[in-house]
Amino acid sequence: MDIETRKKIIKNQKSWKFATALMLLYLGGIILAIVLLKHHQEETDKVYPEYVFTYAENQSGDYPTTQGARYFADLVEKRSGGRIRILIYPAAELGDEDSAVEQVIDGGIDFTRASLATIVSYNPRSIVLMMPYIYNSREHMWRVLSGKTGDNVLRSFDGTGMHAMSWYDAGVRNFYTVDKPIRGIDDLRNMSIRVQASNLNRDMIRALGATPVTVVYADVYSALETGTIDGAENNWASYVSMHHSRVARYCTLDEHMRIPEIQMMSETSYRRLSPEDQALIDQASRESAEYEKELWQRRENSSREKAEKDGVEIIKLSDKEKIRFRKAMEPLYRKYCGDYMDLLTEVVSAGM
Ligand code: GCU
Repeated sequence: MDIETRKKIIKNQKSWKFATALMLLYLGGIILAIVLLKHHQEETDKVYPEYVFTYAENQSGDYPTTQGARYFADLVEKRSGGRIRILIYPAAELGDEDSAVEQVIDGGIDFTRASLATIVSYNPRSIVLMMPYIYNSREHMWRVLSGKTGDNVLRSFDGTGMHAMSWYDAGVRNFYTVDKPIRGIDDLRNMSIRVQASNLNRDMIRALGATPVTVVYADVYSALETGTIDGAENNWASYVSMHHSRVARYCTLDEHMRIPEIQMMSETSYRRLSPEDQALIDQASRESAEYEKELWQRRENSSREKAEKDGVEIIKLSDKEKIRFRKAMEPLYRKYCGDYMDLLTEVVSAGM
């Protein structure tokens, strides 16, 4: 091969390599453009929430009220097409119940669920709905809560900083003790019994001859275990779920109180929403309450069964003792309901 032909071949090879490199560059460019375009499309299709709200719950993740909260958050997210997201913080992660309520009022937390005992001081009239022995049965309580009376009480929280949305069930409360069983009212004398931070609850314990001790819900187990208190009182689900039943092995079925609970939104956060979104939230809350009610019934039964299986002694009061318990509570009606006789009559007559 002469020198000229060799030069030509080398030149051809060079331009071939150059063309291939160019082609690869071109193809790479196309692929990059496709990837960028797809990413852009995905970004445009994504719905970013307009609102991200916080929801405080002092019960554990599997507790009926927490499950009700999750049901509520899912409904709201679905119905708002992802515009409203609610993040649930269970097990008092955002603080105990009293402080969660204060933060809701200040607008620092958007939602919570609270026992009426915790919020009654903000709306003294609502106390009628948690008086000892006011309901004959669960059905009686739900007749009151799901009717006009319940709605009016929810609305009477307007202006307190809490937008009260719906009623949640919290069953019936009983006493339980560590060392000495309560078989009659006299056994309570001089016992120290844990109560929620409410004057009515403290007075109730005094009326029974015992000493009330206010302890935050999350600390009741250790207060029972270390002997700081002789006993406490709560519903079946809390008694078992917070492991109180492991240390307080005597449970007396006196059924002194049914304390309804309220799912609420901060009024500050509520006012930021359009009327359509407000309605969406209110509706979802009412539906979640129905769901919670169903879960509650099952949980109450299974918790009682579990306590029985674990060997807790369940004490039934004689009819005579039941009457003594009720009689001891009568003065509380004069003290706490005197100004709300209209509401008291409504609640009592719903049970007749
Ligand atoms: C129930 C109620 C709680 C409350 C607790 C208590 O478990 O659901 O909201 O904090 O009683 O006794 O403190």
